[in-house]
Amino acid sequence: MCGIVGGVSKRNVLPILLEGLKRLEYRGYDSAGVAFRNNKKVSLVKTQGRVADLESQLDGSLKSLQGIAHTRWATHGVPSTKNAHPQDSGNSIFVVHNGIIENHENLRKKLTKEGFKFKSDTDTEVISHLVNLYKTKGYDFDSAVMRTIAELKGAYALGIIDLDNPDLVIGAREHSPLVVGEGIEENFIASDVMALSQVTNKFKFLQDGQIALIGSDKIQIMSKNGTAKKIPTQEIDSNSFTNDLAGYSHFMEKEIFEQPKALQDALQGRVTSEGTQEGIFGAGFEDQVKDVTNIQIVACGTSFHAGRIFEFWSHKFLGVNCRVDYGSEYQYQEPIKTDKTLLVTISQSGETADTLSSLKFAKKTGKPVTLTICNVANSSMCRESDFSLLTNAGPEIGVASTKAFVTQLACLNLLLLTMMQLKKQPKKAIQNISSSLLQLPKKINKTFDMLKVYKDVAKLLFNKNSALFLGRGMYFPIAREGALKLKEISYIHAEAYPAGELKHGPLALIDKDMPVLALVPDNEHLDKIQSNIQEVAARKGRVITIGPLGKTKIGKNGGHIKIPKTLDLHNPIISVVPMQLISYYTALLKGTDVDKPRNLAKSVTVE
Ligand code: M6R
Repeated sequence: MCGIVGGVSKRNVLPILLEGLKRLEYRGYDSAGVAFRNNKKVSLVKTQGRVADLESQLDGSLKSLQGIAHTRWATHGVPSTKNAHPQDSGNSIFVVHNGIIENHENLRKKLTKEGFKFKSDTDTEVISHLVNLYKTKGYDFDSAVMRTIAELKGAYALGIIDLDNPDLVIGAREHSPLVVGEGIEENFIASDVMALSQVTNKFKFLQDGQIALIGSDKIQIMSKNGTAKKIPTQEIDSNSFTNDLAGYSHFMEKEIFEQPKALQDALQGRVTSEGTQEGIFGAGFEDQVKDVTNIQIVACGTSFHAGRIFEFWSHKFLGVNCRVDYGSEYQYQEPIKTDKTLLVTISQSGETADTLSSLKFAKKTGKPVTLTICNVANSSMCRESDFSLLTNAGPEIGVASTKAFVTQLACLNLLLLTMMQLKKQPKKAIQNISSSLLQLPKKINKTFDMLKVYKDVAKLLFNKNSALFLGRGMYFPIAREGALKLKEISYIHAEAYPAGELKHGPLALIDKDMPVLALVPDNEHLDKIQSNIQEVAARKGRVITIGPLGKTKIGKNGGHIKIPKTLDLHNPIISVVPMQLISYYTALLKGTDVDKPRNLAKSVTVE
C-alpha cells in the first residue's frame, strides 16, 4: 500500500528519499513521486511506474536539503502521473498522503467555491489546497496544517512541505502509521521504519492525532489542538530491516526457505518440552485470561486462516468457545457479550486497517482482554492491545504471506499451551504438544527435499484456468490458504471447499482441466476424504493429494506428496509449505511478478 518518506537535512536528502522509496516498494504501489527543494523553488517529479523510473527522471547531480516522497497504491483515481503524490497547491504546498479522506467531496466543493482548480482525481488534493487556503488567510504553515487537519474525516498519514519553509517537514497521523526518524543534523518521517533504516535506528512512533514538526535540528510533537507532546525515542535494531535477497530470486522464495529458522525464533525462550514459560504474552496475562469463557479472533487474509485453525484447537483442547471473524466484517456482527472474552487480533503487519478498527471497536463496545499476535514491534495493533506476542519471523517483504503464517500458528500454539496449563490439563498432553511443536522446524526443513515434485505439480497447474482445494476440519483453513497463495501470485482462479461440500455443488466443475489439491490427514477424516477424492477421480478430475501417509509420486494426471508425520494438530502447519512452493513455482512458470502481484499491497492500511 502507499508509502511515505520525507526529511530535512544539512546534506543532500534526495538519495535518502529514493532509497527509502525502494525499501517501501514491497508494500505494493502503482506510481511514485517526489517533491524537493531546488534552490528557491520546490520541484515535483512523478511517474506512473516504478521507483527506478522516477530515479531515471531525476538529474543525478541534483542536491536538495528538504523533500517528501511517496509510492501510491490507487484508491481514489486511477494509477496515473497526475494522481501520483505529492499533490501540490499553487506550486507552494506539497502533500503526500496514505489513507482515505472520507469527506473529500464536500471539501472539494468548498475549495472549488474558493477558486481552487483541481488537477487530479485524488482525495489527497483537498489537503494541499486547504493548507494553501489557510496560508493565504494569514496563518503560519503549522497553524494552516492544524486547521486543515481539523476538517479532515477519515484516515491519514501525511507529509507536507511549504515553499516558504525550507527547513521544515510536517507529519501527521490519524489511523495510518507514521514514524519520526532521528538523525544528527537531519530528521525524517516515514510510514514504515524500514524506509529509514539506512539512516537511523532511532524512532519516535506517532500516535493517532499527533503532528510532528521536523527541522534538521528539531523535532516537535504536538496534539491536534497544539499542546506539546513528549514521546520516547526507541532504538530499533536496523540490521533486522534488510531488503537483501541473499541469493534467492524472490523474497517469497527466500521467506519460504526461512521458515524453519523463523519458527525457531518464534519458539526460542518461550517453550520447553514441559510447556510454555510464564509471562511470554506480557506480565499479568495468565491472571487475566485464566477464566475466559470466550475467545474472539479477528484477522484478515492469511492471518484469518491462522485464526480458523486455532478455533479448532480451542474447541478440541480447551473446550472454550472460539469465533473467528474477518476484520472487514467484525463490526457488522452484534458482538457476543460474555463475562470474560479474550479478543485476539492476528496480523503480520499490525497495521491492517480492517483488523485495527475491529480492535478499537471491540474495546469501545465491550471490555475484552486484548492480545495481538503480530510480526512488527511497535505496530498500531501492538500498542492498542493489552498484551502482545511477536511472531519473530523477521521482515516479510513478499506480498504473499508465508513465514508470517507458520509463525502465527506457532504463537497460537503457545497460546493454546498456556491456556491448557492454566486449566490444569494433564501434564502428558501438554508435554506431547510442546515436544512436537519444538520438532516443527526440523520437519518443515524436510519438506524442502521435494522441490522437484513441487515443480512437477506446478507444470500440471500453470496452464489451467482454475483449481480446487479440499480439506476437512482444521485442514480446511489450510486448503483456503493454499488457494489464496495460488490465486494471489499466479492469478489462477482457485477456490477452497470443505471436502464434504463437493457434492453439494462444486462437483459440477470437475473435468480434466480442473486440478484438485486435497489434504489427506492421518485422522478420523481419512476415509471420508478418500471417498471425496474418488468422487473427483470418477469424473476424470486430476487429483494431487498431500498428507503424511503413502508415498510421493507425481504423474501427468496427478499423484501424491508425502509430508513428514507429526501430531495431527501440527500437520496443517507442515502441509502448507508444499502448497506455498507449488504456488511459487506455478507463478514462475506463468511469469508473474511474484513479490508484487498486480493490484495487491503488502500492508492494507485502508478499510
Ligand atoms: O498484515 P496482516 O497479516 O494483517 O495482513 C492481512 C492480509 O492482508 C494478508 O494476510 C494477505 O491476505 C496476504 N497477501 C496473503 O498472502
